[in-house]
Amino acid sequence: MYDVEFYMKSYDLLQDVRARRLTDPAATLETLEGLRSPDPVVYNIETTNACNMRCAMCPRTTMMTRKIETMEPELFERIVEQLKPFPADTWSRWERFVAETYGVYDGDMSENHFFLRIIPRVIQLHGYGDPLLDKNLAQYVKLLSDAGLESYFSCNPANIDMERTIEMFENGLGHIKYSIESVDDHRHKEIRGEASNFSKSYSEILRLLKLKKERGYVTKIVITMLDLNRETQQEDYRKLREAFEGCDVYLYLKSEDQQWYRKDFHGTQSVHWSECCKHPWMSMTIKSNGEACMCMEDFDNEIVLGDTRTQSLAEIWDGDAYRAFRQDHVDLTRGLKCTERCDMMMVGEAFLQGPTP
Ligand SMILES: C[S@@+](CC[C@H](N)C(=O)[O-])C[C@H]1O[C@@H](n2cnc3c(N)ncnc32)[C@H](O)[C@@H]1O
Repeated sequence: MYDVEFYMKSYDLLQDVRARRLTDPAATLETLEGLRSPDPVVYNIETTNACNMRCAMCPRTTMMTRKIETMEPELFERIVEQLKPFPADTWSRWERFVAETYGVYDGDMSENHFFLRIIPRVIQLHGYGDPLLDKNLAQYVKLLSDAGLESYFSCNPANIDMERTIEMFENGLGHIKYSIESVDDHRHKEIRGEASNFSKSYSEILRLLKLKKERGYVTKIVITMLDLNRETQQEDYRKLREAFEGCDVYLYLKSEDQQWYRKDFHGTQSVHWSECCKHPWMSMTIKSNGEACMCMEDFDNEIVLGDTRTQSLAEIWDGDAYRAFRQDHVDLTRGLKCTERCDMMMVGEAFLQGPTP
């Protein structure tokens, strides 16, 4: 989830940031502080950072050095107890805002529709691992459903375990996203590693779709391919769409994040990656060891803002580390991952002299 109230209320101000129409950093920070929710909103809970894939484009494969850990169920439960869903009225206003601002409507199927209409209302259960390797996941889905919260995660379909997946469906899983890069097993393995495949994954997904239809599960099955700017990218995507033609799936091509990793920026279709970073005021990320970080992109827990094992989410959200981090975004503090190694614009860039980057 993210704080859609903050998103709506800060929209005009952040447009001014992008256009560099602001002149007072302290006043801007104070305004943003005034707009943020007193209660923390959690974007994702990474229940494990264990993964058996070797995806060439994933920072987990190329850069992550932190210890492999899986969250204890007691901690997950304690975190969920501190979360609450948004009231229905907030959602109606958000849906109107998204339609008017971005031209994204109910029933659309795209990267931006997924980001604007699905992500804000779900607890995302993946980070830098494969959630299907966490045997507690079905139980977590149930805990979230019981708390009135919708669940979602992205995973590699080569790890599908039919029995556990059905249990998750039974427990009310909202969305499950399967990452597929090619309909060709060989090419798939080149991109996502030896443990991945298309053929077996495909037949398992078709089986799940059949079961979903027969038993009336509400879980939406999502399929994504990453736009890695490969030579055969469009052809591969066409073949993927063809393979799932007529199936009850939500399928889209997703822009690549953090293109500084590869230094050949090939553009993004993503609203999220085109706008100013709102994370310091909008949402919290919780990692498999319980640390609270600034966002999903912090693959090595470099900016730790608290520890959910010893602190409440509210303490962390209002704590000194979070406050200093928000200030850092305005000051563009050097040496920080956000300033040195992130594609996203930061609030402080509004106050830089010279031409707009
Ligand atoms: C890090 S993965 C972890 C979940 C799971 N192992 C999977 O592959 O779906 C989370 C999401 O990030 C996506 N991803 C990996 N590398 C990416 C990149 N460079 N840019 C954008 N998304 C990326 C994956 O496709 C997946 O949807």
